[in-house]
Order: sequence, then structure tokens, then C-alpha cells
Amino acid sequence: MSQGIVTVSYIGAAVLCILALGGLSHQESARRGNYYGMIGMGIALLATILGVVEDNFFILIVSIAIGSVIGLQLAKKVQMTQMPELVAILHSGVGMAAVLVGFASFMGHAAGNLTGAEKTIHDVETYLGILIGALTFSGSVVAYLKLSATIGGKPLLLPARHWINLGMLIAAIILCFVFVEQSESGGGSFALILMTLIGFAFGVHMVMAIGGADMPVVISMLNSYSGWAAAATGFMLSNDLLIVVGALVGSSGAILSYIMCKAMNRKFLAVIAGGFGNKPTSTGAPAGAAEPAGEAVSIGAEETAEMLADAKQVMIIPGYGMAVAQAQHVVFEITNVLKDKGINVRFGIHPVAGRMPGHMNVLLAEAKVPYDIVFEMDEINDDFPDVDVSIVIGANDIVNPAAQDVPDSPIAGMPVLEPWNGKNTIVMKRSMATGYAGVDNPLFYKENTRMLFGDAKEMLDNVLASLKTL
Ligand code: TAP
Repeated sequence: MSQGIVTVSYIGAAVLCILALGGLSHQESARRGNYYGMIGMGIALLATILGVVEDNFFILIVSIAIGSVIGLQLAKKVQMTQMPELVAILHSGVGMAAVLVGFASFMGHAAGNLTGAEKTIHDVETYLGILIGALTFSGSVVAYLKLSATIGGKPLLLPARHWINLGMLIAAIILCFVFVEQSESGGGSFALILMTLIGFAFGVHMVMAIGGADMPVVISMLNSYSGWAAAATGFMLSNDLLIVVGALVGSSGAILSYIMCKAMNRKFLAVIAGGFGNKPTSTGAPAGAAEPAGEAVSIGAEETAEMLADAKQVMIIPGYGMAVAQAQHVVFEITNVLKDKGINVRFGIHPVAGRMPGHMNVLLAEAKVPYDIVFEMDEINDDFPDVDVSIVIGANDIVNPAAQDVPDSPIAGMPVLEPWNGKNTIVMKRSMATGYAGVDNPLFYKENTRMLFGDAKEMLDNVLASLKTL
């Protein structure tokens, strides 16, 4: 394949990746966005294999085959609720690839002919690629272990941890100068290996210190890092497409981190500094253990169905528990029954409901819930006073009034959906257990709240059956 065709293919692939990101920003176009991305990556791979690679085709094909089989198996097996874990472990792969390519580029002959400023620039690219790759790799592995509950989710707060981080940063900067200088005279391996170990340690230390409700931001931050690692690799290999796609991933991950920080009322730097969810409160009670303001009152499925049937305005607030119970299809059936009775049913979606960005939107789209009755938190929060019944399905942190009322709660300041401003709230969950942030929820004890205890799918099946008899 000629260089011209490779360049045109790369431009086409880059445009398709940009269109993919555009498509993914709206529910209606998300499927199309995915197709653009797949075609773009397919073109990029083909152009690279046929136009850039010069030898070792056998190793390449075998590697692609192994990678594809592993990818297909993982994608088939993974549950929607495990998606953040999958994303984390995939990022670790990108990080390790950047480390390996960096070492290969350093030890190989590619840069052998470079001299002067060109050599220095190449060395810095290699150094940065390996550093970002190393911390992305180890940070993603720790994020994976935390999300899969292999290790505890609590933040690990070493004494003087900020000094440790600063020390590692300064060491990495000094080692960069040492590496560039030694590389001039054919050395530099020791500085490079030492920096890689520091990068691994930094990734582990950084993510170990982050706990509870900050994990989604960490995943998207690691997503951003993996993009920058890929972009640095692109510079190392002089591959324009890798630079463009890496920068797209890096910047979109950074924007997503910013949006999530805003949704949780957290400062990005405070997230990276870690320690969230571990502070004692002024009352001396465990973090976030807001005083129960009364007793929780339970309700049965039949009574729930009656309340729904009597309502004019119903708001459905899905959370992680709906995903676990796979209750989205019966939710849609209930929506249809209520709509047939002339009831206005809407969905209120919190930006970090569930365990990944857009989690609830994906499930509702899968159940074919029309997009025009699904609203973002900001669009819907002011409407609660007109809502007759809000049903909270397996959600907890995202409807926790402690975020507004308890200043020293770990989730203080996080914007939340406000069903308590409506006439009645029914919370569907299995027990009084806390949610992801480990924070008690005063909503459960409010006068106009009723608890429907049980698995969300089972309970909603019962509610649907009762609704059909009314
Ligand atoms: P959570 O606060 O985690 O609450 C989910 C609730 O669902 C639990 O309290 C649980 O109570 C209930 N539940 C679990 N299985 C259930 C089942 N089969 N049937 C009925 N209920 C069930 O979820 P949320 O309100 O969606 O908030 C999301 C939280 O996760 C936030 O803290 C957010 O920061 C964090 N997070 C979000 C993301 C993203 S990007 N979305 C990623 C990682 C973490 P029982 O055990 O009593 O049933």
C-alpha cells in the first residue's frame, strides 16, 4: 500500500473517530457513533498492517488473533454492572503497551540516527510515554481490583502521602534530565528503569488513596491518561493517527472527568489527592452516618400499585439496584400501563447513577424506553413539587438529602435528585443497607417516604401484576 493511501486512510480513520465521539454524546446517535468508531479503528488497523508494517507479519497476525479472541470472550461474558472494571483493565493494557513500546523504541535502532535537538525531543517523548504508561497501568490495575472488590474500596492514607507524591514527582523530573544526558552517550537504561518503577508506585499509591464515590472520576481520569500515553507513543513512533486518536481519548476523558467532578461537586485536584469518605464527622459518628430522623415505614407491592394508579405525575428514579436486578424491562412495562391510564410518567437520571457514565440511559434504551420521557437531573429537579409519586428503584446516594443538609457528610455538596420535595416517595431496595459511598440516607425516614423492601425486579413484577388487576 502506497504512503499516499496510508495517509488518506489515516485521515479517514481520524474523522470517523471524531464522528464517533460526536455520536456518543446523544442517546439517539450513540449506536451510530459506535459504528463510526469501529469502522475507523478497522481502517486504521488495515492501513497500518498493509502500509506501515514491513516484517514480522506472522507475529502480528497471531497477536491480533489472540487479542481479538480475548476481547470477544470478555465482551460476551461481562455484565453491564462490571463494565467499569472491564474499562479499567483495558486501560491497564494501553498503559503497559506504552511502556513496552517506549522501551522497544529506546533499545531499538529507530532513534539511532537522531542527533542533537531531535534526539533530545525523542528521548523526552519516550520518557513521558513510559512514565504516563506506567502509572496508567498500575493505577488501572488497582482500580480494577477495587471495583471488583478483590481489595477493599476504602482509601489507603499513608502518613505524609502528599510528600510521598511530591517526592516521586521530583524524582521523576530529575531522572528525566539524567536520562536525556546519559542517552546522548548511549546510556540511560538505569534512569529509565528507575523512573518506570516510580511510575508504577505512583499509580498504585494514587489510586489506593482514592475511595468510595470518587472511583468513577478515577476511571475516566485513567481513561484520559491512557489517551495521553497513546499520544506519546504516537510521537515516539512518528505515527500521526496514534497522536490524533490518543489526543481525542485524552481530552474526552479529561472532559468527562470534569463533568463528573461537577456532578459530584468535587474538585478534580481534591479527587486526585484522595482520602474521600474517610473523614470523621463533627459528631464523632462514622463518616456520613447521618442521624436517622425517625423510623422507616414499609409498604407492599399492592399498595404501591394503588398509589401509582391514583397519581397524575410519576417520577421514576433508577439507580445501581435496577441494573443489578435487571429490572429495566418491567420498569418499561409499568411505564406503559401507567401511560395507558393517562398518567404522566417521567424518568429522572442522575449523572453518576449506577456504576458508569450513562449507565441508566443504556439500560433504559435497551428496554426501549422512549428518550423523550428520560430527563437529566438538572432538567427535572425543579419539577418534584408537582410529582405525586416518585419511585426510587435501587438508588441510594443519588437521592440522599444528607448531601445538602449534613455539611460534614462525605457526599456533602454532591448535587442530588430531590424526590422528598414531591408528595410521596417509594424507595425500592432489599434492606436499609447503604449505597456505594457507605452513607446513611435520611430520605428513608421522611414522613412521605415508604420503603418497598425486596429485589427490584421481583417487587416490580408484583407491582405490575397488581396494576393490571386495578
Ligand atoms: P448506590 O448508592 O450504590 O445504591 C444502590 C442501592 O441499590 C443500594 O443501596 C442497594 O440497597 C440497592 N440494591 C442493590 N441490589 C438491588 C436489587 N437487586 N434490588 C433492589 N435494590 C438493590 O447507587 P446509586 O444511587 O445509583 O448511586 C451511584 C453511586 O455509585 C454514587 O455514589 C456514585 O458516585 C457511585 N459510582 C458511580 C459511577 C458512575 S460513573 N455512575 C461509577 C462508580 C461509582 P440494598 O442492598 O438494601 O438492596
